[in-house]
Amino acid sequence: MFGPRKSLESVTRHDAAHALAKTLSWPHLIALGVGAIVGTGIYTLTGVGAERAGPAVILAFAIAGAVCACAALAYAELATMIPAAGSAYTFSYAALGEALAWIVGWSLILEYSLACATVAVGWSGYLVGWIQSAGIALPSALLAGPHGGGIVNLPAVLVALSVMGLLIAGTRESATLNIVLVVIKLTALAVFVAVALPAFNGDNLSPFMPYGFGSTETGGEKRGVMAAAAIVFFAFYGFDTVATSAEEAKNPGRDLTIGIVGSMAVCTLVYMLVAVAAIGAMPFLDLANSSEPLALVLRTLGQPTAARLIALAAIIALPSVILVMMYGQSRVFFTMARDGLLPRRLASVSPRTGAPTLITLLTGVSIAIVAGLFRLDEIAELANAGTLLAFIAVGACLMVLRRRAPDAPRLFRCPAPYAVGTLAILGCVYLLFSLPSATIGRFLIWNAVGLGIYFAYGRRHSLARR
Ligand code: ALA
Repeated sequence: MFGPRKSLESVTRHDAAHALAKTLSWPHLIALGVGAIVGTGIYTLTGVGAERAGPAVILAFAIAGAVCACAALAYAELATMIPAAGSAYTFSYAALGEALAWIVGWSLILEYSLACATVAVGWSGYLVGWIQSAGIALPSALLAGPHGGGIVNLPAVLVALSVMGLLIAGTRESATLNIVLVVIKLTALAVFVAVALPAFNGDNLSPFMPYGFGSTETGGEKRGVMAAAAIVFFAFYGFDTVATSAEEAKNPGRDLTIGIVGSMAVCTLVYMLVAVAAIGAMPFLDLANSSEPLALVLRTLGQPTAARLIALAAIIALPSVILVMMYGQSRVFFTMARDGLLPRRLASVSPRTGAPTLITLLTGVSIAIVAGLFRLDEIAELANAGTLLAFIAVGACLMVLRRRAPDAPRLFRCPAPYAVGTLAILGCVYLLFSLPSATIGRFLIWNAVGLGIYFAYGRRHSLARR
């Protein structure tokens, strides 16, 4: 009913001209994971989350983190069982059939592209704040898209294009550079907590849940803890990019398990600390509208130098998130093209750098356009919709393959797989329906267009149907 399924053997076997080199080991993968996970979600969306949930944004982080932890466990099992590029798309091709795999792959393209665009816009917020705090005036028409009264968010466009250039230069150098940036990013958050936590004031946490728990929509604006969870969910994902690079891991069993579970654990801990420190330091309404909330907290606490340092760290390090997500996007696109669902010539790998150049170019330019023109929260919410659908599929794949191929080798076995798979699915469905209805509408349109392409091109060129 859902088209052909790939056998577990065939998803890990490719001809040499379309195979990616095995160059990554677990430190690279943890760095890839943390590089993708810690970004605009904690640096910027903490403010948006506070606006939607009040101080209970702390709870929203915990809920989104718990759902992601279930998805991460499912990912870890599937990635070590099916160590091939393409992550949720590839798992779905083996477990659920081609048509559902297409929908998942198409949603992943949305996830990765829009996540890159979101981070580019978040980066621009810190850059502009940093320059302006030095007393330098900038032309406002070039700092925001039409939604913000400008023409284009030029810094966001430039950062997206620069990262694209890095990726085209080759995976290996990019992954090593990523490690350095991850260290900067984590150090900055540690400094933030060290400076903000001593100013903790319990009064700022009361009332804790001013807008209630469930997500409610009035005049297109979402409020409530779940509304905040549906947006700060953005802060947690990215570990799936580790799974997308499975084919390039030297020792997938060990490297992927450590990479996925390790990066998830580090990030969850860091977020809880940062959220408590930020909310405890100042009234949540003051945080809500800032495009650089962490820097704002520190300035408000009379620490302008620390504020400038945090902003500088964000400016230097957030591009690493774009780098990892753009990498993931190009690999999903690459895998879909290699399978014949998208034009196959897009999947050719540069013999010099080992990177799929054409796809990376296409991806980078599209991301730059979106980042230049659209609003941060709307882009993030649509990225979340794509991710949530992919996570739902991953939960389903985990359970389907446990039942259908119980004896297939699994280098990492998810504990209580049916409970974890079901929780991942239910949690993601709840988060998906906590998103604004406009976002869900846009997501349906994206997938309707995708299915049109699938029936017009993908289905007819699919190698699995030959
Ligand atoms: N989790 C990533 C971020 O927060 C996408 O920027």
